[in-house]
Amino acid sequence: MSFQPETLLVDNEDRIATVTINRPDKHNALNSQMLDELWAVFEALQEDDAVGGVVVTGTGVKAFAAGADIAELHQLRSKSGKRASSKGQAVMSLIESTGKPVIAAIEGYALGGGCELALACHLRVASRTAKLGLPELGLGLIPGYGGTQRLPRLIGKGRALEMILDGNPVDAERAYSIGLVNKVVEEGETVRTSREWLESIIKKAPLAMRTAIQSVHAAYPNRAQGFQDEARLFGYLCGTDDAREGTAAFLEKRNPGFHNR
Ligand code: COA
Repeated sequence: MSFQPETLLVDNEDRIATVTINRPDKHNALNSQMLDELWAVFEALQEDDAVGGVVVTGTGVKAFAAGADIAELHQLRSKSGKRASSKGQAVMSLIESTGKPVIAAIEGYALGGGCELALACHLRVASRTAKLGLPELGLGLIPGYGGTQRLPRLIGKGRALEMILDGNPVDAERAYSIGLVNKVVEEGETVRTSREWLESIIKKAPLAMRTAIQSVHAAYPNRAQGFQDEARLFGYLCGTDDAREGTAAFLEKRNPGFHNR
């Protein structure tokens, strides 16, 4: 890879690349720079014939990624919020459309944008101590990186609404039982399991694999409008006092007081 990302660690061993989100002091929260770097890394991995599959994970066992960076979310207003959502969505869609299998290896928290990143991967392996959730409503926001679109498709509308409206993360056992993750393994074992899984998957014909991924996604033909609506609605909320208050309350480590405006 010709450039060195600052927020990600990337390696390629035996045809399997590992992309590690590396902001441990912020529970691997996804900031704007990281989205740019994810974009560049996935474009490069897509083109690299030496790579047959990709594992996405976070540094350490405490967090896969605890969401979009709330300090950045706090600065957004309507227009910039819509732009930020569209940018996050574009990165997630690029990952989803990678023509090689991508597995999320989830240790610890996969919340908000972190959960949406896991949803954009083709398969998910979670540790027993993982927690997955979309807590954005507690910030006065909604999921803005495609979560309102991908989650219902994966686990059904009723369960998706439960996760989004309730906001409490689900543990690995529940995540497995509702089809949110594909495998559950011991803490610290998700990357090894994902690599082993990919080793067997990538023995199959690469062209057929790319085509299968493309064909499965063709089952959802009217995706664009849903994503546009999500970005518009996310932008709308970024312009409200409630979003400013919700994000400020998190940063100031206090409970929010919402005023419905
Ligand atoms: N954005 C920015 N910073 C974040 C963050 C995020 N999404 N998640 C965690 N951090 C930061 C905290 O502000 C804290 O920074 P500080 O040490 O400078 O104060 C640091 O990471 C550690 O987080 P902390 O909350 O102290 O850890 P914890 O173990 O008590 O709680 C979580 C862990 C994941 C439950 C909690 O951090 C959390 O709820 N994060 C936000 C989840 C969220 O709402 N995500 C949706 C955003 S789209």
